[in-house]
Amino acid sequence: MSERIEFKENASRRPSRRPRLKQSSTVLAGSALTGAIAARAYAAGDETIKVALVGCGGRGTGAATQALSTKGPVKLWAMADVFKDKIESSLAALTKGQKSRYDRKEHQGFAGKVDVAPQRRFVGFDAYKQAIDSGVDLVILTTYPHFRPMQYEYAVKQGKNVFMEKPVATDASGIRRLLAANEEAKKKNLKVAVGLQRHHHAAYQETMKRLKDGAIGDFELIRVYWDSGWSGGCGLCPAGMTEMQFQLRNQYYFCWISGDHIVEQHVHNIDIAQWLRDEHPISAQGQGGRMYRNGREHGDIFDHHFVEFTYPDGTRMFSQCRHIPGCWNSVSEHILGSKGKAEVNRGIIETADGRWRCRAKVANPYQVEHDVLFDAVRNNKPHNEAEYGALSTMAAIMGRMATYSGKQINWDEAINSKISLAPEKYSWDAKPPVVPGPDGVYQCAVPGVTKVI
Ligand SMILES: NC(=O)c1ccc[n+]([C@@H]2O[C@H](COP(=O)([O-])OP(=O)(O)OC[C@H]3O[C@@H](n4cnc5c(N)ncnc54)[C@H](O)[C@@H]3O)[C@@H](O)[C@H]2O)c1
Repeated sequence: MSERIEFKENASRRPSRRPRLKQSSTVLAGSALTGAIAARAYAAGDETIKVALVGCGGRGTGAATQALSTKGPVKLWAMADVFKDKIESSLAALTKGQKSRYDRKEHQGFAGKVDVAPQRRFVGFDAYKQAIDSGVDLVILTTYPHFRPMQYEYAVKQGKNVFMEKPVATDASGIRRLLAANEEAKKKNLKVAVGLQRHHHAAYQETMKRLKDGAIGDFELIRVYWDSGWSGGCGLCPAGMTEMQFQLRNQYYFCWISGDHIVEQHVHNIDIAQWLRDEHPISAQGQGGRMYRNGREHGDIFDHHFVEFTYPDGTRMFSQCRHIPGCWNSVSEHILGSKGKAEVNRGIIETADGRWRCRAKVANPYQVEHDVLFDAVRNNKPHNEAEYGALSTMAAIMGRMATYSGKQINWDEAINSKISLAPEKYSWDAKPPVVPGPDGVYQCAVPGVTKVI
């Protein structure tokens, strides 16, 4: 599924006039960076940063492309995926070249920088551990978000620097696990990037800075959208394939793996509010369902969500995401303030004094986020984006909890929810958390009935 290339780095996130990020006492106690020790940034005596790619699909291949395009010696050293063919196709694209939709360039390939001997191509559910343990300095985690917390935890345990894609989990237990691992990452001074690339987009950066500096006064209403006509569908499980294999081949359609549209994609837009306010919402209520994508071939996710998030001072954020053809479409973020308004995605701020439009030269944010990460690794600069990545993901999960349950959900009960979306075990013959009913349809959430906390 394609995502629009629009967005930059956040190493210089400025303190805002707004209250600091409110952290759930139960989950985030002691999250201040204390006792940080300088971790070995990369192998002593060798300037080459060796990289493991875990999750060799579209984004993984793109992220590896960007990693290999950073300054200084870099080598792709190991690859891991649950499916062998994904490693093969990614390796071929990285070696021989491809047109990458993530940087708009045709690559000639990185043959000189790709050194993934057959014994360092790992397949299966535990492949990530083998890749992480193969002698690398940095790990790219671009599998599906359900697996991010366990893979991040292991990478941190083994002292690796990390680039991980958003979202960083699909349920609250995953968020708690990832945040706990991140405390270790901070103590070890590991460098950690999260693929919320708007933070690395020059126009977003400049617009957000102006807003945080008071350009439109106090924020009164935030509206964010990921409405598109993408229809999709994953077909039916073919004979000879286990249900677990089928679901992992079609991750987007299964909430336990992808988190549903509101988490999987719309987190980009929801994240803008956390960035703006330096705090997470305290509650959410909303509605959603499946009007168009509601057949046997559409897994268990909704095709539309509308959520009203509330922040500590009572400010609301209205969030919409929809995947239905033939409707109004928008992927955007809008802020109404006491002295004006902003269209963040277009870099426009309007007040009584006039209209400002950001003219910043925008470098590809997918590349910039890797440039910043690798520079931090090489030069031991502070860099850890996991916390805001986790809190924005959790806000999106709370929104999904609201649309699935039809209830008002509070932050503390959401982040402490004991309901896990994980299967009992990870193997091809294991039963996934959701399976088709007698009519072949996957049971999806029913507002008013479904329990989320
Ligand atoms: N920031 C962005 O703009 C952006 C754009 C696209 C995708 N993404 C994110 O990147 C992630 C991957 O998306 P994608 O489009 O590349 O999907 P994809 O299906 O193309 O690739 C995912 C790969 O991970 C592998 N995988 C899944 N579970 C695994 C596991 N447990 N261990 C090892 N390998 C596993 C799959 O087999 C597949 O090859 C998602 O979280 C997605 O939201 C972000």
